Amino acid sequence: MENNLDQIHQNGLKELEAAENSNDIQDLAVRYLGRKGILTQFLRNISKLPVEQRPAAGQEANKIKTKLDKAFKQAAENFESAGMAKDDGIDVSLPGRSVSAGYLHPISQINNQMCDIFSSLGFDIAEGPEIESDYYNFEALNFPKDHPARDMQDTFFVSEDVVLRTHTSPLQIRTMEKQPPPVRIVCPGKVYRCDSDLTHTAMFHQVEGLLVDENISFGDLKGVLTTFVHQMFDDRTSLRFRPSFFPFTEPSAEVDILCVMCRGKGCRVCSHSGWIEILGSGMVHPALYENVGYDADRYTGFAFGMGVERIAMLKYGIDDIRKFFDNDMRFLEQF
Ligand code: DAH
Repeated sequence: MENNLDQIHQNGLKELEAAENSNDIQDLAVRYLGRKGILTQFLRNISKLPVEQRPAAGQEANKIKTKLDKAFKQAAENFESAGMAKDDGIDVSLPGRSVSAGYLHPISQINNQMCDIFSSLGFDIAEGPEIESDYYNFEALNFPKDHPARDMQDTFFVSEDVVLRTHTSPLQIRTMEKQPPPVRIVCPGKVYRCDSDLTHTAMFHQVEGLLVDENISFGDLKGVLTTFVHQMFDDRTSLRFRPSFFPFTEPSAEVDILCVMCRGKGCRVCSHSGWIEILGSGMVHPALYENVGYDADRYTGFAFGMGVERIAMLKYGIDDIRKFFDNDMRFLEQF
């Protein structure tokens, strides 16, 4: 009988060694210690033994039962604490996969930096629709119908009188219509032009600026833009104002900055001129005041508009605008 019990004990331990997971151990426990288990069966059969053998056999069987129970429980715990729940095909002892945090697209980052600089100078942020009427995109900005200046903007037409806005300048009119002077706003947003090459995409971003009040001069425009350029790049980056034409400003100027790549020596990026154009600007044309009902004798102001991609390309030394929109993470993760 003792041999028999010993055999059960040894078998139980051997099978335990072969167990691969906690499910195997559970099966073992049922098979040995369950209601119909091997040891339970053995204990039941003790009553068939001669009376004088019963106590010793009972004691011995209970001892083995306790030992196996302990061994099974210990092994199950080991599986769990080692995290080897192999039965689910998951090894929970492996280090967790970290969830990478999202971050802003380089264009959004530059856009925010630009707006922050103007906010710090007291400008409010204004936004408007990307699908725009001919009136706000052109007419009210002093682009009469059939005016050749309309050709400067390769317009996407939604219908005869509705366009995808070609610039953020309509926000000048929309804002002035809504509030009396003083006005001091910057307007970030997407704009659309039928154009595509190394430096142009059909959708790009602009930041527009408008300041209207009493006694505003071209000097104020120069001061604001100089502060902007020095903060966006550095204060060694000088500016020059070059006469230009826009229907909604008079006088108009394009602003060049000293080439950020060669510092004015001349390189491929600045077409060997030492200067790079970054924006259009000027004093608000009196015709716009008429259109919004401002007193053109009392108020003056300036406006400017620039491309966010262009600023980002100069800041990061990128030569192909399309890289921003390829969604190649190897490129985007650098910023
Ligand atoms: N809207 C012009 C463009 O997209 C840029 C511009 C030029 C904006 C002069 C202005 C400005 O506000 O005064 O080409």
